[in-house]
Amino acid sequence: MTERLWADVAADVARAAELLRQGRLVALPTETVYGLGANALDPVAVARIFEAKQRPSFDPLIVHLPDAASLGEVVDLARAPALLTRAAALWPAPLTLVGPRTAQVPDLVTSGLDTVAVRVPAHEVARAVIRAAGVPVAAPSANVFGSVSPTTAEHVLAQLEHRIDAVLDAGPCAVGVESTIVAFGDDGPTVLRHGGMPVEALTPVLGELREGPRVLERPLAPGQLARHYATVTPLRLRTAEGAAFDAAGAALLVVAGAPPAWAAAYGHVEALALDGDLRRAAAGLFAAMRRLDAAGYSAIDVVPCAEQGLGRAIVDRLRRAAVPA
Ligand code: TXA
Ligand code: MG
Repeated sequence: MTERLWADVAADVARAAELLRQGRLVALPTETVYGLGANALDPVAVARIFEAKQRPSFDPLIVHLPDAASLGEVVDLARAPALLTRAAALWPAPLTLVGPRTAQVPDLVTSGLDTVAVRVPAHEVARAVIRAAGVPVAAPSANVFGSVSPTTAEHVLAQLEHRIDAVLDAGPCAVGVESTIVAFGDDGPTVLRHGGMPVEALTPVLGELREGPRVLERPLAPGQLARHYATVTPLRLRTAEGAAFDAAGAALLVVAGAPPAWAAAYGHVEALALDGDLRRAAAGLFAAMRRLDAAGYSAIDVVPCAEQGLGRAIVDRLRRAAVPA
C-alpha cells in the first residue's frame, strides 16, 4: 500500500518524516523532480530504493540535506576543496556537489566510490521533511529505472504505486529538470550534468568550470548509467550475417525493414518497421524490448538500423542494453 500524504497537512509531513526514520520509502517533492527518499545512513532502506526502482545497484545516489550546515555529516570537510564549501553557500538550489565522503555514508549510497553527491533542495517541504526525519535522505528521481523523471505525485504513483510506502504530494515541481551536478576533484570543478542551475550562475563563485565526462554519456562509476534500458534477457546485436549466434530459444527483433533470410533460424521474429520508418521503429522499440524480455526467450537478438538521424538514438539505446550484466 502506498500512503498518499499532502504537503499542506502538518500531520502528513510528520508522517513522511516518521516513515523515513523507520527505514521506509517516501517519494518527496523537490524543486527539480520528485525524489524517491530513504534514510541515507540505513543501507537496508537504501537497498529498498534500488528494489523499487529496479535499478542496478551500482548507480550512486544523491544525498539530500536540510541545510548547508549539515554538509559535514556526509562530506569529509577535512579533505574537501575550499571551492566545494564555497559552492555549498549557493544552497538551497538545484545544484548537486560531489566531494569526498565521510565514513558514515554507506557504500550502497555511493556504489563504493570515495565520493558522495549531496544537495540541499530549494523546496521548503523537502527541507522540512528531511529536518524532521533527522537523517540525510538518499533520493534518486522517483521513476522506474530508465524512464522519465516525475514532476507530479501522479507521475510517481503511475510507476511506483504499491512499490513504495508513501508519496508526499506538493503539486508540480517548479524547475522540472534534475539538478546540475558539479564534481570537485584534483583538477578543479567539473560539470557532470547540466540541470536546473545554469552554469552561468556558478562561474561568479567557482570560476570557469570544466566539462566533465557527462553522467548521461560516459560512465564514471562501474555500471553507472551504461546499462540504462538493459533487458534481463541477454540482448545481442546481430550486425554481421555470418556471426555465430545460437538462435535456439532466442527471439529476433529487426529494427527497420524486412527480416533477412537467415531469420528463418529463429522461432520468433518481430519487425519494428517493415517499411523502414525509423520513427515507427523508435516508437515501438522499448515496448518490444519489454515484451520480448518478459516472454522467456534465451536471448533477444537485434538487427540494428543504420546510425543516421533517429537511428543514432535507437542504436545507442540498443548498445546500452547490450552491455553484459
Ligand atoms: O534533481 C535531482 O538531482 C533529483 C532530485 C530528486 O534531487 N535527483 C536525481 O537523482 O536526479 P538521480 O539518481 O536520478 O541522478 C543522480 C545522478 C546520477 O547520474 C548519478 O550517477 C550521479 O548523480 N552521481 C551520484 N553520486 C555520484 C558520485 N559520487 N560521482 C559522480 N556522479 C554521481
Ligand atoms: Mg534519475
